Amino acid sequence: MKKLTIAIDGPAGAGKSTVAQIVAQRLNYVYIDTGAMYRAITWQAICQNLSGEDVKDIIQIARSCDLRLVYQNDKTHVSVDGVDVTEQIRLPEVSRMVSAVALIPEVRAEMLVLQRNMGSEGGVVMDGRDIGTHVLPGADVKIFLTASIPERARRRWLELQQKGFAIEFEQMQQEIITRDKIDSEREAAPLMQAADAILLDTTGLGIEEVVQAILQVCKERL
Ligand code: DC
Repeated sequence: MKKLTIAIDGPAGAGKSTVAQIVAQRLNYVYIDTGAMYRAITWQAICQNLSGEDVKDIIQIARSCDLRLVYQNDKTHVSVDGVDVTEQIRLPEVSRMVSAVALIPEVRAEMLVLQRNMGSEGGVVMDGRDIGTHVLPGADVKIFLTASIPERARRRWLELQQKGFAIEFEQMQQEIITRDKIDSEREAAPLMQAADAILLDTTGLGIEEVVQAILQVCKERL
């Protein structure tokens, strides 16, 4: 049977990674979390005491590091130069800086090559901000997931609470607004719904409802 290429885009906290992982499991496809790639570069930059303004050094990291995503036991493991950074890339300081790193066109160009390589075979669910518009414009299924800002902030806040990070809800909401703004207004491949993407607002929807809606679209395409 033909294996589809599925692009899932949307803002932070819309539920992309949770839903994309389940869809990939159900279809027995590979899941590719492109946000994790920008986060891994950001974590490397933090380890080298860089800020988002150290553009040249960040480009150097993106060009020279060996960044790998391995999907194992239903989890994406991210490594940089052989070191597993799967947990570190979710730290709040990474979330705060990653939009600045993802702004840099040279960093995006490096990630694009890796992402297109991984997506070239079909049988993939790739999530991010620019997958349907830029990385895989020919994807068979394009979904744009969104949800209200309070709902997205609530999801991210809960996620961090569960990991033991105490963060004010209001601060979380502000961080989401800031990231949306940077991601949507940047020049290089901004966060945008592709003209042929299906818009799914997940506010008030359960995970399974969203998964079923996407699987239904996939069925129709097959
Ligand atoms: O989905 P996430 O929160 O892990 O993404 C982290 C950041 O990476 C987000 O602020 C925007 C950026 N990103 C991007 O610019 N393009 C992608 N395809 C994926 C993520």
